[in-house]
Amino acid sequence: MSNKMMHKLLVLLVAVLAIGSTIASSAPVRMQLVHTDAGLGLTPRELLHRMAQRSRARAERLLSEGESVPVTPGKPNDDGVPDTEYLAHFAIGTPAQPVQLTLDSGSDLIWTQCQPCISCFNQSLPVFNASLSSTFADLSCGSAACQDLTLTSCSSAGDHSSSSTNSTPCVYGYLYGDCSVTIGALAADTFVFAGGAAVPAMAFGCGLNNTGIFTSNETGIAGFGRGHLSLPSQLKVHNFSYCFTNITGSTPSHVLLGLPANLHSSSARGVVQTTPFIKNPAKFSTFYYLSLKGITVGSTRLPTPESTFALTNNGTGGTIIDSGTGMTTFPPDVYKLVHDAFIAQTRLPVQNATTTPLCFTLPAAGMKPDVPKLILHFDGATLDLPRDNYMFQLQDSVTCLAVNPGGNLTIIGNYQQQNMHVLYDLANNMLSVAPAQCDQV
Ligand SMILES: *[C@@H]1O[C@H](CO)[C@@H](O)[C@H](O)[C@H]1NC(C)=O
Ligand SMILES: *[C@@H]1O[C@H](CO)[C@@H](O)[C@H](O)[C@H]1NC(C)=O
Ligand SMILES: *[C@@H]1O[C@H](CO)[C@@H](O)[C@H](O)[C@H]1NC(C)=O
Ligand SMILES: *[C@@H]1O[C@H](CO)[C@@H](O)[C@H](O)[C@H]1NC(C)=O
Ligand SMILES: *[C@@H]1O[C@H](CO)[C@@H](O)[C@H](O)[C@H]1NC(C)=O
Ligand SMILES: *[C@@H]1O[C@H](CO)[C@@H](O)[C@H](O)[C@H]1NC(C)=O
Ligand SMILES: *[C@@H]1O[C@H](CO)[C@@H](O)[C@H](O)[C@H]1NC(C)=O
Ligand SMILES: *[C@@H]1O[C@H](CO)[C@@H](O)[C@H](O)[C@H]1NC(C)=O
Ligand SMILES: *[C@@H]1O[C@H](CO)[C@@H](O)[C@H](O)[C@H]1NC(C)=O
Repeated sequence: MSNKMMHKLLVLLVAVLAIGSTIASSAPVRMQLVHTDAGLGLTPRELLHRMAQRSRARAERLLSEGESVPVTPGKPNDDGVPDTEYLAHFAIGTPAQPVQLTLDSGSDLIWTQCQPCISCFNQSLPVFNASLSSTFADLSCGSAACQDLTLTSCSSAGDHSSSSTNSTPCVYGYLYGDCSVTIGALAADTFVFAGGAAVPAMAFGCGLNNTGIFTSNETGIAGFGRGHLSLPSQLKVHNFSYCFTNITGSTPSHVLLGLPANLHSSSARGVVQTTPFIKNPAKFSTFYYLSLKGITVGSTRLPTPESTFALTNNGTGGTIIDSGTGMTTFPPDVYKLVHDAFIAQTRLPVQNATTTPLCFTLPAAGMKPDVPKLILHFDGATLDLPRDNYMFQLQDSVTCLAVNPGGNLTIIGNYQQQNMHVLYDLANNMLSVAPAQCDQV
């Protein structure tokens, strides 16, 4: 659908909606996180299969759409199973109605499905009903939140037939790279987090017509990106952190916004690594770019020039850390070097050198023979990954390398972030990571 068509649709929807206003305050919060696959009783083979599909799907979208378009994690799998990664749990309204939103550091808007649905996907929680909330308010075209969105009934999109004024309700359209769309009323309401912390007047999308790829147990998406409308930005926190529990387990963990992350405490059994976030030179970007310099596999520093992982002047390529991608994704040439180095240095039979992921046969069930180290070199930080953060035990006698080939954008995925405390220090523009037992954080 073109932006112009979308704009017409938005203008049509305006008539249905009421008027209101207001904008955010601030507070530190704690939210529960649950891995999407938690409790599904999947075998390791199923998990790996799904993770590989999700990672590939996301990478394709990130690349095809360019960095300025927000992205949903996941795309339908052949078997139609849920395909996002970690869902953040909180509640909206007075009294509070629960929502569970995909934690997506690749987009900004926070939205959940709303009554009266024009077209909603199935969700397990009741759909948010604004008329049950005494604190709910629609936002108008004059609101800062509305003006922060590129596609609304208020923007002209080259067509000046509408006469929206500052008090006209703001109807938004938000497009994702996979052509998923949410259309609805931009609104404000109280967000209620774990422990009862309530933050009034948070701007979010009340999604009335939500079509596309939403096959997980989500009710919408929580943008954690760098834009004004993301959850960290609206809460005006100076940092946020998460600690992803074992992807094969079902233990929930927490995302902390503006709270001490205890990275230096005794529970962080290891050195804290810190590296700066990089700015996209060409445009504002939602993404958290890092300065990856190179990769070591076992004893070999791969012969990749630093420019391989760097942003170009026109704002393409680069390296990002992403909460919504499963496996780390490298440019095709880099993937080939990693792949070949693993084959050369792993003294195990290769299952099939042409398939992804790359898998090795173990000499006997349950054995864990040595595999080469995988080390990521950043400006100021060296991420010497624990074996469990890049090898995946597919079956008793098969172990696989959990990285994918992709496009020129390198994506550090969440499989590589398991059992690490990851702190996005927005005030100082730094990322810190430390090993942790995330079920104990
Ligand atoms: C949604 O739920 C309804 C009722 O449970 C069911 O009939 C329908 O098939 C579901 N749709 C999808 C796409 O799963
Ligand atoms: C939403 O809540 C209102 C007020 O209680 C109720 O009248 C309406 O039926 C609800 N809508 C849905 C779709 O449940
Ligand atoms: C819902 O949105 C889609 C585009 O995502 C559009 O094609 C469709 O007409 C909309 N449905 C309604 C009832 O507005
Ligand atoms: C989906 O979410 C609901 C509500 O939180 C929860 O009860 C249910 O267990 C979840 N289903 C799966 C498969 O995770
Ligand atoms: C995050 O920010 C809060 C509030 O500014 C601060 O109290 C806390 O120490 C910070 N956490 C870390 C780990 O820097
Ligand atoms: C951006 O720059 C890279 C490398 O300089 C080049 O390969 C690519 O084609 C450029 N893309 C655009 C859209 O100009
Ligand atoms: C390896 O995988 C490719 C592609 O799936 C397949 O064509 C080939 O037959 C496989 N080779 C072996 C030895 O299984
Ligand atoms: C996750 O749990 C499985 C099974 O308990 C274990 O084999 C694996 O090493 C764990 N992975 C991480 C990253 O801790
Ligand atoms: C990817 O990078 C390579 C090498 O820098 C360049 O030749 C190619 O044009 C880039 N591809 C895209 C789609 O930007």
